[in-house]
Amino acid sequence: MSIPEKSSDGIARMRESCAIAATVLAKLKEHVSPGITTYDLDQIAKDLIAAHGARSADYGYQIGSRRFPAYICVSVNEEVVHGIGNLRRILRDGDIVSLDVTVEYLGYIGDNAVTVPVGRINPRLQELLLVTERALHLGIEQARVDNRIGDISATVQEYVEAHGFSVVRDLVGHGVGLSMHEPPEIPNFGRRGTGPRIRPGMTLAIEPMVNAGGYRTKTLSDGWTVVTADGSPSAHFEHTVLTTDQGPEILTVPRSA
Ligand code: MF3
Ligand code: CO
Ligand code: CO
Repeated sequence: MSIPEKSSDGIARMRESCAIAATVLAKLKEHVSPGITTYDLDQIAKDLIAAHGARSADYGYQIGSRRFPAYICVSVNEEVVHGIGNLRRILRDGDIVSLDVTVEYLGYIGDNAVTVPVGRINPRLQELLLVTERALHLGIEQARVDNRIGDISATVQEYVEAHGFSVVRDLVGHGVGLSMHEPPEIPNFGRRGTGPRIRPGMTLAIEPMVNAGGYRTKTLSDGWTVVTADGSPSAHFEHTVLTTDQGPEILTVPRSA
C-alpha cells in the first residue's frame, strides 16, 4: 500500500486533531498523582475529548474480533501500551504511567503519548523517561525529506541501547491521518538508509517504547494490555509529525485554553 500524502485541507484538519490530542494530554497529565485510579484518568480524558467536540479514536477500535473498551490507553510500570483504565488500579507514589491519547476530529486523527512519574520516582526510572523522550526527539529530527524511515529507526535504537535500555520490537510507529494506522510502519529499531523514502506532506506517529530490561513483550489475557516479558518497567513517548521541505514539524502541540 502506498504512503498517503496529505492535501492542504487534510493537513489543516490534521493540525486541528493533533492540537486537540495534545491539549487533552496536557490537561490529563495534571491529574496524575498518588491515589487516582486509571479508570478516573480514562473518564477525565473522555470528558476532555468531548469538550473539544472530538471523538476517541481508541474507543471501539477493532483488532480481529475485539473492540477496545476505553477512551485512551493508560499503562502503568511494566505495562508497555494499550492498558485499559480500571477502577481497582490505584496509582501509587513511585509508579510511572503512560498516557496515550488518540482523537478523531473532522475525519482526521491525532496521536500522542507521554510517560509521567507518579509522585517521586527512583533515579533509574527518571533516566528511563528522559532517555525515551530524548529518543523520540532524536527520531523526529530524522523525519526529513529524502531520508528513509530506517534513519528514524536506527537513531532511536542506537540512542536507547547506548543507555542500557531496550526498544520494543513487537509494536511500531505508523503513518496517521484518515486512519489511526496507515503506512509506513516506523519501527524503533533497524538500519539507516533502509525503508520507505520520506516525502513532504507525510504525517507520521513516531513512538519509541523503551524497556528497562529486555525487549520482549507479551499480551495479557484481557487481549489488549502489552507488558514486558520480564516485568521490567517500560516508557512510551509519541508525537504526530508533519514532514515538510523545511524539516519535521510536531503537530501534537497543545493550544492554550
Ligand atoms: N494510540 C495507539 C498508537 O499509538 C493505538 C491505540 S490502540 C487502541 O498507535 F486499541 F487503544 F485503540
Ligand atoms: Co498513540
Ligand atoms: Co501511535
